[in-house]
Amino acid sequence: MAPIAVSTETYTSTPAEQSRTLKLRGPSPPERVSSPGRNTLPGPLAYTGLLDKYPHFESTPAIGREFTGDLQLSALLNAPNADALLRDLAVLVSRRGVCFFRGQDLSPEDMMVLARRLGELSGRPKASNMCIHPVSEYTPELVDQPKPQVISASRQNKGGGIRRVHDDVSRWASVAWHSDVSFEKVPADYSMLKINQLPETGGDTIWVDCYGILEKMSPSFLEYLETLKCTHDANFFHAEAEKMGLKVRDDIERGNPLNKGTDLSASHPVIRTNPVTGWKALFVNRGFSKRIDGVTKDESDMIMNYINQIGMHNFDHQVRFRWEKGSIALWDNRSTWHSATFDYDEERCGDRASGLGEVPFYDPNSELKSHGLKREGVKF
Ligand SMILES: [Fe+2]
Repeated sequence: MAPIAVSTETYTSTPAEQSRTLKLRGPSPPERVSSPGRNTLPGPLAYTGLLDKYPHFESTPAIGREFTGDLQLSALLNAPNADALLRDLAVLVSRRGVCFFRGQDLSPEDMMVLARRLGELSGRPKASNMCIHPVSEYTPELVDQPKPQVISASRQNKGGGIRRVHDDVSRWASVAWHSDVSFEKVPADYSMLKINQLPETGGDTIWVDCYGILEKMSPSFLEYLETLKCTHDANFFHAEAEKMGLKVRDDIERGNPLNKGTDLSASHPVIRTNPVTGWKALFVNRGFSKRIDGVTKDESDMIMNYINQIGMHNFDHQVRFRWEKGSIALWDNRSTWHSATFDYDEERCGDRASGLGEVPFYDPNSELKSHGLKREGVKF
């Protein structure tokens, strides 16, 4: 059996995996040079179906899978064939955008282990570690031992969070669509959230399938977008941190050597290749993306408005999850947007674990999800 090099260890693929592993099409683009931000996969990974035996349903045709039985993520983490299972879980999440698990006993510490293993087994750069949000309560002595970020509505409202409720910004719910830390040079790959306290109703989370919404575009317009980059900017977090009595973490590497310093902005391709699937996805979001590079402001506004509209209005590429205590959602930030639904006053809190992936790149040989699925002869 031929070994597939993944992260710091060698994983030996099965014959079935080898036969379904897709080869990288064409030469590597210039962005994929050796650096602390380069994904290490030689080509997209195949899903081998190890998780299909657990009861589940596809939440919508476009995005989401919910496991309905007693599958525990902690059991996958501790299984004898954990590497194979978790590698398939990473591929499944990258394909479906988000997966849901209810009644989970996974501890906050094991959430961190799981997020780390998903990235490692799916080829994230060796220099990437767990995500450290620039506005977090880490103390310097804990940086070597990252812990889950506590997501708390009451705490975020002190600063306003991504909605910035005290600022003169839109009050539309859609203002908070985002991909985790997309303003960093090396943004997040997999994120997971476990909700521990929630209101009687409200506080759902919605995800957008950023592969599929590309199908709403004409080929010529998509071809134009593939030539563009966009600046993501979260320097508003400096004021946010001040309101919360915190300091932006500009004194440390925030999970990758490229994520450091006070400037919380980065320029990324508008259309990004997800290296795990080899599919292209829209990588501009309303929360953090501020300016299309290299065009006039009027043109940037027009393009950004179009992109926001296409994600907001195409609910055939959205999935909404109603949380229960102990639910876990696990998603790939490279090809989805997400937003909480801020329709509650009570406390809503949970633990979040996010890993960092690669420097976003666009591979001109990557394909639309529909083309990839058709070529594989599968529906999902
Ligand atoms: Fe988020």
